[in-house]
Amino acid sequence: MNEKQRLESEQINQMSSADVKSGANDNLNRLKNMSSDEMISKYFQTTYEPPNMRKAKKRLKKDVDIHYDFDIPLEMKAVGKGKKFLIRTYGCQMNEHDTEVMAGILTKMGYQATEDTNDADIILLNTCAIRENAENKVFGELGHLKPLKLENPDLIIGVCGCMSQEESVVNRILQKHQFVDLIFGTHNIHRLPQLVNEAMFGKEMVVEVWSKEGDIIENLPKARKGKVKAWVNIMYGCDKFCTYCIVPYTRGKERSRMPEDIVQEVRHLAAQGYKEVTLLGQNVNAYGKDLDFEYGLGDLMEEISKIDIPRVRFTTSHPRDFDDRLIEVLAKYDNLLDHIHLPVQSGSSDILRVMARRYTREEYLALVEKIRKAMPNATLTTDIIVGFPNETDEQFEETMSLMEEVGFESAYTFIYSPREGTPAARWEDDIPMEVKKERLQRLNALVNKQSAEAMEKYQGETVKVLVEGESKKDPDVLAGYTERNKLVNFKGPKSIIGEIVEVKITNTKTWSLDGELVESAVEVN
Ligand code: 5AD
Ligand code: SF4
Repeated sequence: MNEKQRLESEQINQMSSADVKSGANDNLNRLKNMSSDEMISKYFQTTYEPPNMRKAKKRLKKDVDIHYDFDIPLEMKAVGKGKKFLIRTYGCQMNEHDTEVMAGILTKMGYQATEDTNDADIILLNTCAIRENAENKVFGELGHLKPLKLENPDLIIGVCGCMSQEESVVNRILQKHQFVDLIFGTHNIHRLPQLVNEAMFGKEMVVEVWSKEGDIIENLPKARKGKVKAWVNIMYGCDKFCTYCIVPYTRGKERSRMPEDIVQEVRHLAAQGYKEVTLLGQNVNAYGKDLDFEYGLGDLMEEISKIDIPRVRFTTSHPRDFDDRLIEVLAKYDNLLDHIHLPVQSGSSDILRVMARRYTREEYLALVEKIRKAMPNATLTTDIIVGFPNETDEQFEETMSLMEEVGFESAYTFIYSPREGTPAARWEDDIPMEVKKERLQRLNALVNKQSAEAMEKYQGETVKVLVEGESKKDPDVLAGYTERNKLVNFKGPKSIIGEIVEVKITNTKTWSLDGELVESAVEVN
């Protein structure tokens, strides 16, 4: 893990919630009366299907309904009055944004946010299933929450997000963490009012995990975490089925939102004064493939570029679907930022083949060249997995050399973690942990070196920084990001938070830049 990843993993986001406890709750009795075997069959025969690639691959593109009629039932609009909630988020930006939606729903139910677990009436863990260590963190946190529940039986503890989509996880919670009140899946977020109500007044653990691929629910309320940057989902799910990855099962099939719904959301954010939007999807380059008309990410980005918003980013890309139209549009409009996160996963064509990434090293390099030709200043970052089953030393060296050849300025690096139900999990995980760790260390050293070198180029340069707020380490220092996503720390008045300002770089580090404010506000258009 590199320094950046370490910082992010420490940064478990908390959104929260009052002190009036529900008198009608009978949770303590429920704790005593649990019979988990009965419950497993009750909930899973009807709602759960384990990951099954053959079946999932037969997904029908068209079979998606869009719902515009989300509303919170009248009787649930005041359920949370005088009460507080806390949501802990694990994993990717998609989860962070789902947390904003759940916070929006709970706020509409009358709840307020808190960051103090002792103060919360409802605690939700929005979980990540991508690697085993992400899951271990959640089970560790459940262990910490148990005494709170025993002290306060009215507290509602819920587990949601990607882990809830896994049968083994739900079984483990049903059997070993019976104090949990509520488990719901990634396709059930809009059902939160009903689920909280059931958890509050029912006597049994509430489990609702729809294995149905998921529809698109529009008009969900959102309590966004800041006033400067916002996330906007453009599509949900993934149909790529990389052999190591659990996401196509936990997040369902690819479903694109209608362009006009996305454009309207971005326009609304611009009108509210947001300066940056990040368009989100597990595989944003597949955007539009499931729509009835010819329309892709390039078309969407072009439409969004015309909205009066200074910065537009998108994540995450899959190299296979990164088309010429997108490159042309990205190169053309200034507010579409020249930072492309393009996960490569491995530098060896043989490993890429068994990962089912559907491109070779050479094809990836050709794509990089095309991007660089159109956008000579583009910053490229990536994701890399080391220690995939059967990865030889030579194949790992190919990853090292690709890292250099592309000149990635940063990379998220991971040790392969087998995920139950994925094709790769059936193959022998034959690389000893020592070897995997050594490969990761060597790769991280290279990532750090390349990041530091990329930073050094900014020495003495003046960059445009979107000021996000006080630096985490020093409240007297402001922090923000450049167009190419470099963190900049500098001194300035708090009044410029939310503005794009010019900063002259005076010192460079591995993961950040220090500078001096040049002028307080830059014309952004
Ligand atoms: N083991 C290790 N890393 C994984 N990723 C996805 N699945 C796994 C796994 N089973 C990594 C990939 C992906 C990133 C979000 O997480 O690099 O791009
Ligand atoms: Fe997982 Fe990304 Fe591959 Fe989809 S494209 S299966 S989310 S690694």
